[in-house]
Amino acid sequence: MKNIVILISGRGSNLEALIAARDAGNLPVNIAAVISNRPEAMGLETAQKAGIAAHFINHKAFSSREAFDAALAECIDDFSPDLVVLAGFMRILSEGFVRHYEGRLMNIHPSLLPSFPGLHTHQRALEEGVRIHGCTVHFVTPTLDHGPVIIQAAVPVLESDSEDSLSARVLRQEHLIYPQAVRWFAEDKLTLENGRVRLAAELADHAVLISPEIR
Ligand code: GRF
Repeated sequence: MKNIVILISGRGSNLEALIAARDAGNLPVNIAAVISNRPEAMGLETAQKAGIAAHFINHKAFSSREAFDAALAECIDDFSPDLVVLAGFMRILSEGFVRHYEGRLMNIHPSLLPSFPGLHTHQRALEEGVRIHGCTVHFVTPTLDHGPVIIQAAVPVLESDSEDSLSARVLRQEHLIYPQAVRWFAEDKLTLENGRVRLAAELADHAVLISPEIR
């Protein structure tokens, strides 16, 4: 079974979705550790309650991004992960860190990339007046919120939407596609070819999830 390490900074609802999928027998991985750069991250408590090793590394205690990333990598590598899963980890990672985990570093982003990289994606989607919004799981490259796309989910944007209602609709899809992507990795059904993700033939039509839900 593959080992994964999950990095968080806050709420940890994607972490919860991954733990729930594992507990339901839908995610055949060993969640070896959860690491946060913020002590108050609710996800640390979630991890502890689930019996998963939980670590906090304070980025403010390091003089440079590279020094923090080196300490983070050392902590991660103690668990020999096959995959490192960024689940709301709110730090820009240095190029050296990203290269070290090339092909085994995944992120979830709350937009249909390449639209709306960065922060405040739901507000920006509303301001742009797009009719379709969503979320993306991708492998990480040194460019922020960029990299080979694994799976995306699309949701409608409604006239009545606020930032809160839209982000809640997207988050429900995040909780479906992230465990799905990690499962494909765990089952060796993902490969990277010339910077693009190839899925096992039987999955090729499942990398997009269209949600018609309007609540
Ligand atoms: C999610 O919207 C995720 O896409 C983004 O940060 C948020 C984290 O939420 N990268 P949570 O901590 O998993 O609840």
